[in-house]
Amino acid sequence: MGLNLLGSLYLFGEFVGSRENPTALPNFSLKDPIAIEAEIECILNRLTLEEKIDLCHAQSKFSSMGVPRLGIPELWMSDGPHGVRAEFEWDSWNKANWTNDEITAFPALTCLASTFNPELSWAYGFALGEEARYRDKDVLLGPGVNIYRTPLNGRNFEYMGEDPYLASRMVVPYIQGVQKNGVAACVKHFALNNQEYWRNKVNVELSDRALHEIYLPAFKAAVQEGGVWTLMGAYNKVRGQYACHNEFLLMDILKEKWGFDGVVISDWNATHDTKEAALYGLDIEMGTGTNGMDVSKLDHYDYYFLAKPFLEAIENGAIDEAFLDDKVRRILRLNFRTAMNPYKPLGRKNNPEHHAVALQVAEEGIVLLKNESNFFPIKDQAGVTIAIIGENATRPMTIGGGSSGLKAEFEISPLEGIREYYQSAKIVHALGYESGPSDYNQVMAPSSNRSKLLEEAIEVARDADYVLFVGGLNKSRNQDCEGGDRLSYGLPFNQEAIINELYEVNPNIGVLLVSGNAVALPWLDKVKGLIQTWYLGSMTGQAIANIVGGSANPSGKLPFTFPKKLTDNGAHYFGEHSYPGVDFEQNYEEGILVGYRWHDTMGIDAEFAFGHGLSYTDFSIEGIVVNSVQYHLDDDIRIALSISNTGKMAGSEVVQVYVGKPNSKVHRAKKELKGFKKVDLRPSETKQITIDIPVSDLNYYDPNRANWHLERGMYHLFVGTASDQILKKIKIMIK
Ligand code: BGC
Repeated sequence: MGLNLLGSLYLFGEFVGSRENPTALPNFSLKDPIAIEAEIECILNRLTLEEKIDLCHAQSKFSSMGVPRLGIPELWMSDGPHGVRAEFEWDSWNKANWTNDEITAFPALTCLASTFNPELSWAYGFALGEEARYRDKDVLLGPGVNIYRTPLNGRNFEYMGEDPYLASRMVVPYIQGVQKNGVAACVKHFALNNQEYWRNKVNVELSDRALHEIYLPAFKAAVQEGGVWTLMGAYNKVRGQYACHNEFLLMDILKEKWGFDGVVISDWNATHDTKEAALYGLDIEMGTGTNGMDVSKLDHYDYYFLAKPFLEAIENGAIDEAFLDDKVRRILRLNFRTAMNPYKPLGRKNNPEHHAVALQVAEEGIVLLKNESNFFPIKDQAGVTIAIIGENATRPMTIGGGSSGLKAEFEISPLEGIREYYQSAKIVHALGYESGPSDYNQVMAPSSNRSKLLEEAIEVARDADYVLFVGGLNKSRNQDCEGGDRLSYGLPFNQEAIINELYEVNPNIGVLLVSGNAVALPWLDKVKGLIQTWYLGSMTGQAIANIVGGSANPSGKLPFTFPKKLTDNGAHYFGEHSYPGVDFEQNYEEGILVGYRWHDTMGIDAEFAFGHGLSYTDFSIEGIVVNSVQYHLDDDIRIALSISNTGKMAGSEVVQVYVGKPNSKVHRAKKELKGFKKVDLRPSETKQITIDIPVSDLNYYDPNRANWHLERGMYHLFVGTASDQILKKIKIMIK
């Protein structure tokens, strides 16, 4: 399939192991950490109070100051998380219009999560880190691991889905890959920034269990397993206090319990108070809009909460200097790891290897949702006409969406990719509908134009052998974009009606859904094939064409549920209090039952379940066994099975293991993902695989003990290929 980079064990000269036999990833060699700590103390003693303060806040839109007197460099940051963002002017949101800041746009993180392939996540992070190095960045503002709670969240496409285990397994290698380049990853947005609506003021309340079991694990894995060097605070409030200076989140949990030794960076303009920022864990303040976002004094950075007001508070004794010293130590440590790192490589960008990684992630992440009568793949044959309809066939998607928007060196559109791929078949095209420019409130095409566009599309579709409608959302405001949520669950711009009309003239129709979110699919019965194509970056068209044409076999699995209707989703089931909140107050009423946990436990069928994704080949799984029927706390549960490719095409399947505890003394989801493995198989090939689950992973968070607790007794293991495709249920006992 595709280039299958990771089939070979060497990537960019580095041994990264194979999927079946992953090895420990190589560590980036830093100067001796003990020596660094000694140097940090030495520098700290030589810094004036003013110099220390200067380290703790921005000096431009994307940089913070160093100490020129001592040769300590500035720190340069850039978004994140799908590529390195274009350069901006020093102190404005105008693009700097450099001619050397075009980059490779990698697929959005929902797509990366859909690959269920942690080694590929490392390759993604490493390639991205190389591009960041080339662009001389010290901090890459990503990845994002806010849990997918509602399909309306405008930024879900930047995150890794609804399951904390999947997000944890995927975020760790991404971070390690980025940081191997001497560039800090910045895991964001800590925490509970699960909607864009009211993101600057909403106060999130939730149970301890939901917090620890659902919303924190990916951050914890980023810190403790990924060794992430920076973390970004969120805009919202959590339990009454802003997340960027939240004592409970940043002091008690992040720095104390998890032992984070890196730097907390504020989200841009998410700091609100000097004393709280000083005391409660913020280290570098960025983006504060002193005097408003547009009107700023020349030296307004001096008026940041962690600038002059902080200095004055220390001078007049209101805040102890020790709080400042802790921040400075962390910032110097970050500087040693990045800007001052003598071993950091030079990096590179837009090279064939990065494009190959982008292509492989795209191909492995695309999800084949429906494939009636083997509608896909569509072979390239003379005499066949394929009609491509829909604005998303030609609309650039690397731009828009907010801070994750990119200046890609190139972006192959779906139409371009398909035209390039199909040499014998005839490709015809019509726009079908028109929205508007990115990043603006979009208006529908005027009605006369609207009917003209539809008529053209119908004419093009009528005589074609295949119709492919390429639609979805488009990263403009309220359509998968930062700063606002989607306004409805259905497709915008009259697309539902257009699909229905196309079906009337030609029922041999399939849909390519370009989005980072689930959408309502009332037209699903009418279409024969449906492919979730995400936002795929530079290599979009090539990846899509390879999948549509069958040169690549789909293997992506949904990292979130597609509910049939919005109220089937746990966050929406409980009404306004739960989403979006009332008077800026919000309570996550569904608690731990997020995504498929809700659907499974409540018995609400999904349109497409978490973990679902079809292939062009067939697999058979046999001989599913466990290594024991009884386990103790320190044991690993080992599930072994054999999996065969019984079809005619090479392909990959993701074996998924969920665990449930019947008759638990606490409230539990019916089942939760605890292990998975992606297996590549040639036709007729069989492989034996094992999946290990540490017994300690079965514990739940006990709010009374304020700690994790393992319940003894009987558990169920569910082994399958999707959360709704369980092949075997096995009982085990925990002693
Ligand atoms: C976003 C962050 C981003 C930052 C800098 C904020 O608006 O929430 O994710 O990193 O801007 O662009």
